Amino acid sequence: MNFRLMAAGAASALILAGASIADEASTTLSSLRALGARVQLRIGTAASPLDLSDPTLSQITSEQFSVLTPENEMKWQVVEPQMPGVFNWTGADNLVNFAEAHRERVRGHTLVWHNQLPNWLTQGVNDGSINEAQLRDLLHNHITTEVSRYRGRIWQWDVLNEMLTDSNPSQINPKDFWIAHLGPGVIADAFRWAHAADPEALLCYNDYNIAGEDGSNAKFNAAFAMVQNLVAQKVPIDCVGDQGHLDLQFGFNPILMTQDLRAYASLGLKVAITEADVRTFVETTDNNQTPIVSPTDTTPSHTANPAAADWYNGMLQSCLAVRECISFTVWGFDDSESWVPGAFHGEGDADLYDVNLNPKPQYTALQQTLSLAPGAPHRGGRDHDHDEDD
Ligand code: G3I
Repeated sequence: MNFRLMAAGAASALILAGASIADEASTTLSSLRALGARVQLRIGTAASPLDLSDPTLSQITSEQFSVLTPENEMKWQVVEPQMPGVFNWTGADNLVNFAEAHRERVRGHTLVWHNQLPNWLTQGVNDGSINEAQLRDLLHNHITTEVSRYRGRIWQWDVLNEMLTDSNPSQINPKDFWIAHLGPGVIADAFRWAHAADPEALLCYNDYNIAGEDGSNAKFNAAFAMVQNLVAQKVPIDCVGDQGHLDLQFGFNPILMTQDLRAYASLGLKVAITEADVRTFVETTDNNQTPIVSPTDTTPSHTANPAAADWYNGMLQSCLAVRECISFTVWGFDDSESWVPGAFHGEGDADLYDVNLNPKPQYTALQQTLSLAPGAPHRGGRDHDHDEDD
């Protein structure tokens, strides 16, 4: 037996093993999902069909994130577009399959929302061909069909989305499509119907500005009262999702966000940040809001957007500070696909990656915070004993 050869083989195996561990450390361990896993926090993104099919985008989608939310593919307009009973599950199926293939969980989004409803439904209600009893049946069917289809495969469902007014004080919006036609009782019904279809899924109320982003806490107060009432009635609600769409022209106080998340948690609910992004005005001359200064330009004028990185960080830290915060999701990760320029004229630069898919300081901020999240070692012993005032 040639021991030298064996030793050489063993040595190269060790080197190989070392290399693969190092590779894992440099790729997987530094990813947001791997860093989040160390503190049991899942890091997510909204995903579009392109994120699953484009090689570079899909690599980021699978390597960096451990939860996916379909950006549009589970909305009623997309799954039942032309007429009642004719479904198109292609986009939703692709997303759930992709997530499972990459050991990612899914946040289902969203079952009851005034927006992105199929034309046949809104027109039918407007012209009177769908009456209130029929509308209620249609909603019950929609929830039951969609939740049953993915039973056991959805971690959290956004059952209800954006039901509150932006006024101060805020309230359940009487003009909301569903409230106006079916009354506020539809809120509890929606949770009960979803629970009947998948008793294991966590069922969430999801909205923006409900964790202190509006400064006044008006919308938090309304959201808290609403979910407190649902909990008191033993409605099967499990979580509150705060979207976390921030804009640098307004204020943001992560301490208030932390307090608000804790308040929801005090009701026995989980909480999550579900759609984080931080937008700002960008210098641009075209309708797509392409910044004049290339996002890859390393001049301080562009890369230094410390407020955006800081605010992303503040939202992540708020979530980390609350034990019941189970996921931190960004609403898409790259500026080239962002919903922001289409919705807010002149604004953009809202995401973690630039249009060329280079990570921005916003990404690094989250990465560093997650790296430090396991916390400082406990100090003790003679050398560390001290009075608090020392
Ligand atoms: O697919 C059609 C395409 O066929 C058509 O040519 C094109 C013309 O405008 O529209 C395309 O649909 C667009 C759809 O996104 C898919 O890209 C809609 O116009 C557009 O309105 C829709 O925007 C979505 C928006 O919700 C609708 O309100 C955004 O992608 C999506 O990011 C956004 O997500 C919402 C969350 O669901 C709830 N919270 C707020 C968040 C941001 O608005």
